[in-house]
Amino acid sequence: MTTPSVSDIKEVREITRMERIGAHSHIRGLGIDDSLEPRQVSQGMVGQKKARRAAGLILEMIKEGKIAGRAVLIAGQPGTGKTAIAMGMAQALGQDTPFTSIAGSEIFSLEMSKTEALTQAFRRSIGIRIKEETEIIEGEVVEIQIDRPASGTGAKVGKLTLKTTEMETVYDLGQKMIESLTQEKVQAGDIITIDKATGRITRLGRSFTRARDYDAMGPQTKFVQCPEGELQKRKEVVHTVTLHEIDVINSRTQGFLALFSGDTGEIKSEVRDQINAKVAEWREEGKAEIVPGVLFIDEVHMLDIECFSFLNRALESDMAPVFIMATNRGITRIRGTNYQSPHGIPIDLLDRLLIISTTPYEENEIRQILKIRCEEEDVEMSDEALTVLTKIGKETSLRYSIQLITTANLASKKRKGTEVSIDDIKRVYTLFLDEARSSEFLKEYEQNFLFSEITPTAAGTEKMTVDS
Ligand SMILES: Nc1ncnc2c1ncn2[C@@H]1O[C@H](COP(=O)(O)OP(=O)(O)OP(=O)(O)O)[C@@H](O)[C@H]1O
Ligand SMILES: [Mg+2]
Repeated sequence: MTTPSVSDIKEVREITRMERIGAHSHIRGLGIDDSLEPRQVSQGMVGQKKARRAAGLILEMIKEGKIAGRAVLIAGQPGTGKTAIAMGMAQALGQDTPFTSIAGSEIFSLEMSKTEALTQAFRRSIGIRIKEETEIIEGEVVEIQIDRPASGTGAKVGKLTLKTTEMETVYDLGQKMIESLTQEKVQAGDIITIDKATGRITRLGRSFTRARDYDAMGPQTKFVQCPEGELQKRKEVVHTVTLHEIDVINSRTQGFLALFSGDTGEIKSEVRDQINAKVAEWREEGKAEIVPGVLFIDEVHMLDIECFSFLNRALESDMAPVFIMATNRGITRIRGTNYQSPHGIPIDLLDRLLIISTTPYEENEIRQILKIRCEEEDVEMSDEALTVLTKIGKETSLRYSIQLITTANLASKKRKGTEVSIDDIKRVYTLFLDEARSSEFLKEYEQNFLFSEITPTAAGTEKMTVDS
């Protein structure tokens, strides 16, 4: 009888994930304590306390999961942290609560109707927690025996001996099981579970009885008790899927593969009705529970009147998620109409919203945000340089100054400096214009650009507007 030696176990090289740094990658939560009080600097969040406190309250509401279809609008000037707060909420909610984030303009670029795109976004934001009983085998590995075929080729077979405190059983092993045992690096003395339906093996830890046998164990080795009773057990497992995933899997034309390609197309309303009925049935039977999540639509002023009217209705359904929107627009035209409205949102929808407003940052807050961004991007910056950059941030915009961190760091590296100095900041400040200086420049050299006649048109003085 042989137990697999260490050389039998394939070396699995640790894959280090390359984390990319995005605009909000420094945000790890809302930075509020248990009594919903925001800390000045916490979890990557700085200042904006009132809005964060409000967002914290909404978060509580979402976690309780009782209220459906509440809507919140985060409104404020550009660069005041609206998207950052929404990202913080997503982080704070954790993995199990669905959080869907889309930009208002996205729904116009999909190959489906606007209302279908919105419906899908809504259903992506509702989780269904399904409880299932499965049979597992749980025990301590006494011995693994693998027989190699004499010819050297062909399938391996083997035997696995498992025990609990009361019994011991020998199981036959096929090629697949041998592979997964090897992959999980299972050895004698491990406590494992085997899912009978899928054959999946999970290592729970080392048996306490083996604690003294090996001195050469890593500090992370987890010790567990040898299980009691029967080897075979029933265990309740819980999966959370979204309503949208159930829709796609059950939609005959698409099939579940569409989940990977994202090419889901339109889903028939009959399919959705059936699924709603099925889910209601599961809830009655206690097999499933609804986990209302969050739908976040950024740049919500990009939606048009049809979308807004659809949202009004959709919010009234009892399957609706908590709906959060953000916009930086003031009084502006509602898309698809000639009417103006605050934030470009129709009054009847506005009336259903809780509005959180964000305000521009103070100098010391800009400094703290820039400091956090320097850490996030692994940039060493001298104190004086940070002070200058903060001044720039105050005069121009927070975003512009955040951008300068990366470029100034490159400039500093080019001259083989150890940290970003004032000169590096000055250099990139002259190389890259901020919005105000760029407009200044355009005004000065207007005649040299194409379409320069835009500003004073004959038909009134319509200035360049961003949205159509
Ligand atoms: N309170 C904050 N704490 C930490 N970082 C912040 C904070 N506010 C904003 N930031 C960072 O500043 C940058 C700009 O903020 P953000 O994108 O959230 O602005 P916004 O209000 O969504 O602007 P817009 O209206 O233009 O969409 C982002 O990189 C964001 O992560
Ligand atoms: Mg934003």
